[in-house]
Amino acid sequence: MSVLDLFKLEGRLAVVTGAAQGIGFEIAKALQEAGARVVIADLNPEVGQEAAQHLGAAFEAVDVSDSSSVSALVARVTEQYGPTEILINNAGIVRNTAAELTSDEDWQLVMRVNLDGVYWCCREFGRSMLERGRGTIVNQASMSGLISNHPQPQIAYNTSKAGVIHLTRSLAGEWASRGVRVNAIAPGYTATPLTKRGLENPTWRSTWLENTPMGRLAEPSEIAPAALYLTSDASSFVTGHTLVIDGGYTVW
Ligand SMILES: NC(=O)c1ccc[n+]([C@@H]2O[C@H](COP(=O)([O-])OP(=O)(O)OC[C@H]3O[C@@H](n4cnc5c(N)ncnc54)[C@H](O)[C@@H]3O)[C@@H](O)[C@H]2O)c1
Repeated sequence: MSVLDLFKLEGRLAVVTGAAQGIGFEIAKALQEAGARVVIADLNPEVGQEAAQHLGAAFEAVDVSDSSSVSALVARVTEQYGPTEILINNAGIVRNTAAELTSDEDWQLVMRVNLDGVYWCCREFGRSMLERGRGTIVNQASMSGLISNHPQPQIAYNTSKAGVIHLTRSLAGEWASRGVRVNAIAPGYTATPLTKRGLENPTWRSTWLENTPMGRLAEPSEIAPAALYLTSDASSFVTGHTLVIDGGYTVW
């Protein structure tokens, strides 16, 4: 067997949340190219359906912040496509508000999507993975879970992503002996709709670029291969890890 065979996902069912656009879309594309059957699960049905059509993937609507929406998604996916072997928890949002001015609503919304949402999906999809003794999960963290970004304030986002990193380690320890691996990726600034507004601000843009040793943002397609590695048999002895993909941002 060639080492390249380890990256193949032939026939495995993969669910990617928040894959209507941005990084999630590129991950869905990469997994599909590696042979997986892909379900794009997103809050936005218009963009999500178009993305799915473009890839020849399936689309299911979900609000990851709502546990009943997530359990309904698991039921629909299982009935229509069979058991999920790969889960990518990618959906996420940001609010750029000063810590002392952040409203209860903004704090809770970011936590519900970025942290609760990851947990609901891990719990609901994880149950059947554990029953079958097989599955890989990749959670979308961020370098913001390791450092505190500047100049823009984003207290809830940074805290939620730190939570994702520790949730990943906790689940990995609990599920390792039962055939389910749980890892995370932690991208730096990546050119997507999420960072578009920030890039339009000259101060934010220059600070971001100056603080990234490679001096540029990532393209979403540069993040996707890390998700492929962590979901495939190429990473068969890796669990609880957070893979940082940040052009060197966290070394300074
Ligand atoms: N862009 C970056 O610089 C960057 C860096 C590090 C980490 N990330 C993380 O990567 C992930 C994807 O980011 P992106 O830049 O591609 O963002 P994006 O805004 O382009 O895409 C996010 C997707 O998530 C979906 N979504 C939002 N709320 C949802 C919900 N409640 N339920 C289901 N789907 C929902 C959106 O509809 C959208 O399709 C996020 O978790 C983000 O925090 C992004």
